[in-house]
Amino acid sequence: MPITRAIVPAGGKGTRLFPVTKAQPKEMLPLGTRPVIQGVAEELVSAGVTDILIITGAGKSPVEDHFDPTSGLTAADAGVDGWPPYDDEAIQFYFTRQGEPRGLGDAVRCGERFAGEEHVIVALGDCIITSDQPAAPLRRMLAAHAEHEADASILVQRVSLEATGRYGIVQPGRELAEGAFEMDDIIEKPGPEDAPSRYAVAARYVFSPTLFPYLADLEPGKGAEIQLTDAVRAMIADGHRVLGVPLQEGERRLDVGNFESYSRAFFRTMLTDEVVGEGLRRYAANLLEHLRDASHPDPDLPSDA
Ligand code: G1P
Repeated sequence: MPITRAIVPAGGKGTRLFPVTKAQPKEMLPLGTRPVIQGVAEELVSAGVTDILIITGAGKSPVEDHFDPTSGLTAADAGVDGWPPYDDEAIQFYFTRQGEPRGLGDAVRCGERFAGEEHVIVALGDCIITSDQPAAPLRRMLAAHAEHEADASILVQRVSLEATGRYGIVQPGRELAEGAFEMDDIIEKPGPEDAPSRYAVAARYVFSPTLFPYLADLEPGKGAEIQLTDAVRAMIADGHRVLGVPLQEGERRLDVGNFESYSRAFFRTMLTDEVVGEGLRRYAANLLEHLRDASHPDPDLPSDA
């Protein structure tokens, strides 16, 4: 049966982006010419999702307003045609509040009734996955999940050894077709000495309903938060099949979690934007020259200054 439902956690406070996030959700920060959570929704729709539950919290109303085409500035007001870039009638958004954010596992648990008896995608609202083909990584993960009748499948990416402490890190087991593997273990944010590999959880998951009882039983883990990773770990320990599906060449996870990752993601999406990218690449090259050697013209001054 095709998977058409997705849970998008977007309740986090964005503390690492203060004061930018003092009065606006990090999910509304632009990556390229759209808010990051708009990119997440477009990726999900491209993979066949029709029903999207966004888990919000205090201060997150702009996310709800954004997905209401009649609220605030409309595409017609702005003179923009063909927005949103999907059939709005065919896609239904739902919203629920997490209350006090207690961790990713707690946020996903808010989607239990929405998921019902179906398998459901979880896509973090502060990350996009870029690829040449829209949603190719997500579709590959869904295909592997169905083919191997898994209870959970997780998109993973290689990270540097120093970076393992910022991610859930997985221990790969038996290799399957197309680079996917069975997962033998998973640990939330281990230091390099404890990391079982350099494969990090990359913000996209698919779960059978088996997940939810595990979430209900969780004690706070890393950072005193209810960790989704800990539920997956317990599923593996009980013999449920969990897959890792690596990002491939040309595929990238970009996030707005902190100023450095946000800046990188913003540069990359802007510099590769279809409309403004070419001019910005020229600008960036000139600016770098100028910063390296002040005798090169400053691209923010008129050339005849
Ligand atoms: C969360 C997860 C972590 C994952 C990361 C990126 O961490 O807990 O396992 O690797 O997202 O997908 P966060 O960045 O929210 O602290």
